[in-house]
Amino acid sequence: MKRDVELVVVDDPEAAARRTAELLSAAARAGGHVALSGGSGPRRAYELAAQLEPDWSGAEVWWSDERCVPPDDERSNYKLAKETLLDRLAAAPAAVHRIEGELDPGEAADRYDRALRGIQLDLNLLGIGPDGHTASLFPQAPTLDERDRLVVAAEPGLEPFVPRVTLTVPANSAAAHVVFLVTGAAKADAARRAFGGPPDAGTPASLVRSQYGRTTAILDAEAASGLSI
Ligand code: 6PG
Repeated sequence: MKRDVELVVVDDPEAAARRTAELLSAAARAGGHVALSGGSGPRRAYELAAQLEPDWSGAEVWWSDERCVPPDDERSNYKLAKETLLDRLAAAPAAVHRIEGELDPGEAADRYDRALRGIQLDLNLLGIGPDGHTASLFPQAPTLDERDRLVVAAEPGLEPFVPRVTLTVPANSAAAHVVFLVTGAAKADAARRAFGGPPDAGTPASLVRSQYGRTTAILDAEAASGLSI
């Protein structure tokens, strides 16, 4: 497996959001399958991506994980992307494949696994938690060992403490371009372990690398402060 990561270090979270939005909008323009993530990190990147490219009609949108809540719940990753990106587009994506967080997690995972089979993600945008998790792949969790399934149910590892549905390590790593967006001093140690150390189940982000394509980490100066560049 390819281990190299292209590190892009910019001054501040706004610049990181802009670099990420440029990649998102280019993938949308090219008509790709784009996977989004949740949390607070990507909010600004989604807003800027909608401005940079308001026509997403050639693209299909997916998610790398979801909290098991209804789609109109404040904690929903779908809701975040809907409000900051999808609702702001002039032309909607050809398809929006949301993870059905309102279902039983096992059933939602089964349904998303079937939907994702045969799809090549062009861009997979991921965040990292302060504990080193990515998507809903938490440190030392049994989900990290899954090799056959693309999507599984996961225990809540961190706030919000609701069950999750997540793409597995192989499914996240199958994307042609894996992009991590990491900002803030609270993520510096996780970023150091994810991009500056060996693969380790204690830092799930260190396990996800594009298998046949590119992996890029976009960091602001604070998040990059533990990395020697
Ligand atoms: C989720 C996310 C998650 C996120 C990281 C970073 O559902 O929580 O998809 O994996 O990317 O937790 O989140 P923050 O940007 O909020 O720190």
